[in-house]
Amino acid sequence: MAGRLAGKVALITGGAAGMGAAFVRVFASEGAKVAAADIQDDLGLKVAEEVNRAGGEAIYLHLNVAEQRDWTAAVAQTVRRFGKLTTLCNVAGIYRTEGTETETIEGWQQLIAINQTGVWFGMRTAIPEMKKAGGGAIVNISSVAALSARPMAVAYHAAKAAVHLMSKVAALEYARDGIRVNSIHPGFTMTSTASALPEEMKKALADPVPMGRAAAPEEIAYGALYLCSDEAAIVTGTELVIDGGLSARH
Ligand SMILES: NC(=O)c1ccc[n+]([C@@H]2O[C@H](COP(=O)([O-])OP(=O)(O)OC[C@H]3O[C@@H](n4cnc5c(N)ncnc54)[C@H](O)[C@@H]3O)[C@@H](O)[C@H]2O)c1
Repeated sequence: MAGRLAGKVALITGGAAGMGAAFVRVFASEGAKVAAADIQDDLGLKVAEEVNRAGGEAIYLHLNVAEQRDWTAAVAQTVRRFGKLTTLCNVAGIYRTEGTETETIEGWQQLIAINQTGVWFGMRTAIPEMKKAGGGAIVNISSVAALSARPMAVAYHAAKAAVHLMSKVAALEYARDGIRVNSIHPGFTMTSTASALPEEMKKALADPVPMGRAAAPEEIAYGALYLCSDEAAIVTGTELVIDGGLSARH
């Protein structure tokens, strides 16, 4: 075990699959105690078991990020199990391709509840524990979709842009508490969901990337590892774009 996160206790949403599962593995391998939280309980339990078998320390918690009561329970369980909470990664998210007229009210509200309100719930519930712990770090997964627009996916762009600025607001509010808040903006990333896309769609998404390929989920996790480690002790209120150069050309 390397130790860039030794002494940290991290709650990671979306921890059962895709990017979040990569965060759980990378954080645990760097010495963090990890609570992996998701709604896919079977997959999440497997991720935690795998970490524990590899010599790390992880638990799985059921957490629908759109439910404040789930957040209250998950933060309490994490603190009960590991003694404190120092680190929060809001990774859970969904995607919809509906446009300004075609999006439904239900679809809009569901996406905003998970991708935007869920991030606020997470921060407001974790921050009091981080204050007790003497500081902490929050990484919110936004997207390149927060930085420039494409037609369609109106709710997704709206939520990811909100997460970008919500992260900066919280960074300013809690800087003097030693709580750092940053956002990560991945481009096309080959998570389980992305792998299931038809080959021609994957090619269409990868072709415009200057580096010519999707990111691996671990390549996003390494950015979060830095931001949540003490190496980033003076880094707050900023954004880390990890997109193979995609947004450099806009
Ligand atoms: N994959 C990409 O290309 C890409 C690019 C930019 C940003 N992102 C963002 O990265 C994050 C992770 O995406 P991914 O590609 O790994 O997706 P994924 O679908 O592979 O994994 C998302 C995880 O979030 C969980 N989840 C969904 N709704 C939830 C809820 N209400 N409560 C708790 N957990 C819930 C799912 O069960 C799943 O385990 C998302 O926020 C996504 O918007 C992804």
